[in-house]
Amino acid sequence: MALIEWREEYSTGISGVDFEHQELIALVNSVYEMLGDSSSKTNIINCLGDIYGSISSHFALEERWMEQNDYDDYKAHREDHERLLDDIGDITDDVETSHELNEEQLRERLSNWFLNHFKTHDARLHQFETSKKHT
Ligand SMILES: [Fe+2]
Ligand SMILES: [Fe+2]
Repeated sequence: MALIEWREEYSTGISGVDFEHQELIALVNSVYEMLGDSSSKTNIINCLGDIYGSISSHFALEERWMEQNDYDDYKAHREDHERLLDDIGDITDDVETSHELNEEQLRERLSNWFLNHFKTHDARLHQFETSKKHT
């Protein structure tokens, strides 16, 4: 089973954002599968690098959307993006410097890393988008 399963309730209603969320979930899941496969550390690090690249452009997309739509919680959302970029950098550094990979801990860190922001800040985008349509 994948680490994170896409669910319809995750949809923000902003099509570009939803598409990228699904891509990001696929990337996080591929790291998860590599762990089960006892893939090399280099492969895992490369995949974490892909996540970093994709998430950076994803955040830029969301931030553009928030600016264009006068989103009311822009600052806090953007700050959380910055924190997440630091966190994925830290996760990658920890994998790079570890002698022995703690797979269980890495799985948990990755799923928390993605889902906490996703279920709070990104879910709020959905509420905002929906309320806009009804005003
Ligand atoms: Fe997002
Ligand atoms: Fe976000």
